[in-house]
This record gives sequence, structure tokens and C-alpha cells, in this order.
Amino acid sequence: MTPAKVRFRSLSGIKPTGQPHWGNYFGMIRPAVQLAAEHESFYFIADLHALTTVRDAAALTKDSLGIAATLIACGLNPDHVVLWRQSDVPEVLELSWLLSCVTGMGLLERAHSYKDAKNKGKELNHGVMTYPVLMAADILLYDADVVPVGKDQMQHLEMARDMATYFNVAYMGQTAGQEELAWDGRMLKRPAAIVQERTAIVPGIDGQKMSKSYDNYLAIFADAKTLKKGIMAIKTDSTPLELPKDPDTCNVFALYKLFADADQQASLADRYRAGGFGYGHAKLALLEVAEAHFAPMRQRYQELMADPAQLEQILQQGAAKARAVALPVLERVRRATGLPARPVGRLA
Ligand code: ADP
Ligand code: TRP
Repeated sequence: MTPAKVRFRSLSGIKPTGQPHWGNYFGMIRPAVQLAAEHESFYFIADLHALTTVRDAAALTKDSLGIAATLIACGLNPDHVVLWRQSDVPEVLELSWLLSCVTGMGLLERAHSYKDAKNKGKELNHGVMTYPVLMAADILLYDADVVPVGKDQMQHLEMARDMATYFNVAYMGQTAGQEELAWDGRMLKRPAAIVQERTAIVPGIDGQKMSKSYDNYLAIFADAKTLKKGIMAIKTDSTPLELPKDPDTCNVFALYKLFADADQQASLADRYRAGGFGYGHAKLALLEVAEAHFAPMRQRYQELMADPAQLEQILQQGAAKARAVALPVLERVRRATGLPARPVGRLA
């Protein structure tokens, strides 16, 4: 008899800050959809995190629904996964505060996101500094087992694990140094990361990490014309058409690999090495596989965006399910700290 598969709870968030791009898709959305097929899945739209940078209320509202539609169009079934908007479960802010009170400033000052904002002279509001604490609260409030994220979020996840330990040591009777202690249902659960190694960092059209903030991205739901324009703008070297080229140093090939199976990859690599094959040809091959992959999802996305009331209803149902998990966790945390138990009515 084969042993029954262990079902674990996977949880992840995505910020509603503009159009989702290929980096989001391969780094987070696709692994999330794959995990949801086998495991209990919790996914949310991180609108509170987005507020560290977004100052446009209408954009935040629209992009929040846009992310919900994106996740559904990419294959998340809201009947099978818990899909909600972060701010609809405000208890996360309470846990965030409780975690803040056991988290040293040194840890937060070491965060890449904070250092990056500082080095680039961006606005350093308190939300930027406390971002990893809210992210830890997102994860720990739901007793998540695994968190699918891109490699760039690994440090935040490590910090969430550290904060769980600080809290467990401060209030839950854990001895310092016993980080990998088996979870006893009482403490905060330390989650593991799931990082897609093959697609760990998706390059943008300039070869840097693809990111909304670098304006080097290819949007998942760009129309065919915009997509073609973006792909044609991918930076390549100036090797002349007739000479052989190295696929392994080429941004176009790196992106092509995300969509193509092993045979397609080998065949395109051969054409690079043979010479007489230009980057323009490679870009058209990329356009073809990307369009085949995203066109059906784009259609579904447009249908969903045409009915915002239905999207809102899906998010409200998700928030109710998420709160039902969050409230008992928060109660056990409150009790451990000495805060008063909540009147039962408030648990509803
Ligand atoms: P951005 O950098 O464009 O602002 P986010 O920070 O909103 O993207 O990222 C949302 C999710 O997508 C995270 O899980 C992140 O790790 C993943 N992700 C973002 N960009 C990339 C990339 N270039 N490669 C792989 N994963 C990425
Ligand atoms: N910080 C993540 C990002 O920029 C988004 C996020 C917020 C998140 N809370 C989370 C991801 C909890 C995983 C788990 O991509």
C-alpha cells in the first residue's frame, strides 16, 4: 500500500502594484497553481504591503481586483483555494504589532528591501522598515507550512521564521536554539520556502531581474501587439546574423526556456549555435510560445475583469474562510501574551 500523501498548507501573497509580469507568473503564480492541485492553498492580494509605495487610491482598488482575476485566469480555482484581499482580514495588523514587539531593529535593518530603498534614495517610510514584520504576520496567522515565492523573497521568509522563533521563545515556552522543534499546535508554526529553482529569477528585457520597479517587464496579459513590441526590445549582443551564437548567455533564450519543453529548447539551441540565425528570429520563436501559453488565459482574464462585482464576491467569500482560520491562531497568541481574551461575539 502506498502511504497517503501528506497535505500541507501553502500560502503566498502578491502585491497589487501594476500589471503582473512574467517574473510574477513563473516565480510565484505558476508554482502556486501547481501546489493548489495537491495541497490546501491560501493566496492573498497584499494591498497593505502595496501601500508602502502606492499613492493612487483608484489604482490600488483596480489592481487588487486585477490580481484576483489574474490568479483565477492562471488556473487558481476559488472554490478550492482560499483567495482573499489582505486588508479584509485586519487581524493581520494585530499580529504584526505583536511580532514587532519581539523583533530587534538589527534584523529589520539587514533586510535587502530596506537597504535597497535606502541606497536608491527612495521614500523610507516606517512601512518599508516594518514590511517584513507584516509579511511574517501574513504567514504565521494562518499556520502555513510552505510559502511559494521567488528567490528575491527568501530573506523575508527567513525573517518570518526567525520572528516565529522569537515569539515562541518569548511567550510559548520554547528554549532558544531549538529552532527546528516539532510544532506542537500551540506555538507559531515555522514555514518552509518553496522556490522554483529552474525559474528562480526571471530576467527582464534589459537582462536585470524582471520587475515592475525597473520598468523592464513583459506583462502576462499584454495584447499581442504590445507583447511583440516588448519582446523585440529585449537586449541582445551585437553578434552578426551569420555567426554562431551562445544560447546560454542570451536573454531571449533564457525567457524561451520558461515556456518550451526539452526538445524545443534543444532545437532552438542548435539553431543558435549553427549560425545564420539572428536574434530577431529567436525573438519571433519566443513570441510564438509565449502567445500560445498566455492567449487563453488573457481571454479568461478579460471576462473576469468585465464583472468586478463577481470578483468582489469571490474575495469576500475568501476573506470569511481566511478569518475562520486566523481568529483561533490570534486568540492563542493573545492569550500567550497576556492580552485579554476577546468576547465570543467578536470571534464571528
Ligand atoms: P516586482 O519586483 O515586479 O515588484 P513583486 O515584488 O510584486 O514583483 O513580486 C511578486 C511575486 O513574484 C514574488 O513572489 C516574487 O518573488 C515573484 N517575482 C517577482 N519578480 C520575479 C522575477 N523576476 N523572477 C522570479 N520571481 C519573481
Ligand atoms: N513581499 C511579497 C512580494 O513582494 C508579497 C507578500 C506579502 C508575501 N506577504 C506575503 C509573499 C506572505 C508570501 C507570503 O512579493
